Amino acid sequence: MATTLQVIAQRPTAARKPRRGDDVVVRVDGFDARGAATGTASDYRVRLRRGLKGELVRARVIRRRRSRIDAVAVERLEESPHAVRPRCAHFGSCGGCAFQDLDYAAQLEGKRTLVESAFAARPALAGIAIEPVLPAPDPFGYRNKMEFSFGAQRWIESREPRDAPLGPALGLHARAVYSKVVDVASCPIQSPAADAVLAATRELAIADGLSFWDARGKRGLLRHLVLRVARGTGEILVGIVTSEDARLAVDRLAGNLVARDLGVTTIVHGVNARPADTASADEVRIVHGSGRIRERLGDLVFSLSLASFFQTNSRGAERLVELVREEAALDGNETVFDLYCGTGALGLSLARSAREVVGFEITPAAILDARENAAENGIANARFVPGDVLASLADVPERPDLVLLDPPRPGLHPRMIPALLALAPARIVHVSCNPAALARDLDALVAGGYRAGSVRPIDLFPHTPHVECVVRLDRDGP
Ligand SMILES: C[S@@+](CC[C@H](N)C(=O)[O-])C[C@H]1O[C@@H](n2cnc3c(N)ncnc32)[C@H](O)[C@@H]1O
Repeated sequence: MATTLQVIAQRPTAARKPRRGDDVVVRVDGFDARGAATGTASDYRVRLRRGLKGELVRARVIRRRRSRIDAVAVERLEESPHAVRPRCAHFGSCGGCAFQDLDYAAQLEGKRTLVESAFAARPALAGIAIEPVLPAPDPFGYRNKMEFSFGAQRWIESREPRDAPLGPALGLHARAVYSKVVDVASCPIQSPAADAVLAATRELAIADGLSFWDARGKRGLLRHLVLRVARGTGEILVGIVTSEDARLAVDRLAGNLVARDLGVTTIVHGVNARPADTASADEVRIVHGSGRIRERLGDLVFSLSLASFFQTNSRGAERLVELVREEAALDGNETVFDLYCGTGALGLSLARSAREVVGFEITPAAILDARENAAENGIANARFVPGDVLASLADVPERPDLVLLDPPRPGLHPRMIPALLALAPARIVHVSCNPAALARDLDALVAGGYRAGSVRPIDLFPHTPHVECVVRLDRDGP
């Protein structure tokens, strides 16, 4: 059982609607969009912080809500048949992965159930089929970007004695206490090359006596280490974020890291003097190399800086592009609008099959990257419009045959629905990382005269509750 759970004296299982403090017996049947376990007890839906599909647990009610009961498991009565041994030594302590202890088939099934539940809540979407989730090409080693934190005092993990020696940490936030950092020796969802750079950075920084960030005291020099390892080219970008502009110290650390011969292509340095715990910096200084690395996506090459947005699962993104390509079914004569285009990964991947691609994106740096990516790949039929997509659509004279939608997590702004209906493309390919927002937006588009094909979910983030979906919509009538 998770460390937060303790076996306590048995209380009678409640038959009426359980109240706070009651014990209930719950059969776990899946997980919700935040990775919490879900199940049923005496006809009531229950949410548990932890739990695996198939497990039977005795749980104590901590809160009653209208639609569900929140509880914490206090005793495992039956093991889950889907339980597996986590590959990561830090699993359970580290806040990075939710389910390395759940077999991959059950993870995929759970993600499909998430999509089904989101659609089931909307009667107008009743006839839409939800396909099985397309697995990730690699359930491990898939992340091409990780943001690690430095911490002055490492989090003592549950597998360690309480009096284990303290010391600095370079790793990920602890699952139980966000402000604490688990000292990550290696992380199986990133590449071995990234593991080697992580370990070397920690060792070199400690050997040089550099101070690690103390989140409580708001002091210490080293705050974040960002690693980007391009899957397709093997190039490595290292970003070091410090609390002040200590160039000499960072240059020394960077020089020592390059001397280790770990294949580091470029190193950049940024300063974040703000209290907010983000691996971002207003300005970035190049310490080694060009400040950029190249990543392959299908037959295209993308140039990435520290801050560029890029799909974090490169091989998974290639499958996503294939799904989008299949649903777009272009014949070469179409004008494609790529709304929320980021640095152009999806739109540029379709450009050679279209007459023209117009990308819309609010982040100025992403627009610059997208233009550079188009030029580097010799794509002359793509252009990118900066600014809020809603405002920009009104200024663009072209009419699209196909609209590609890949909005941020909250989904489409309500005013985008009438704007899309007025644009009236024959086809929309909707990509979404949030099934609930996708169902809401499809509901509105279907009411506006579009017919939705089946939902094609794809797993880009194994061991997390996240799931990406692709759906094609065709306009009914001319
Ligand atoms: C999910 S990402 C899309 C990524 C891109 N399709 C790709 O595969 O690389 C969503 C993008 O929408 C952009 N965005 C968010 N709000 C926007 C708005 N109002 N107008 C235009 N772009 C916006 C974000 O900056 C982000 O790049």
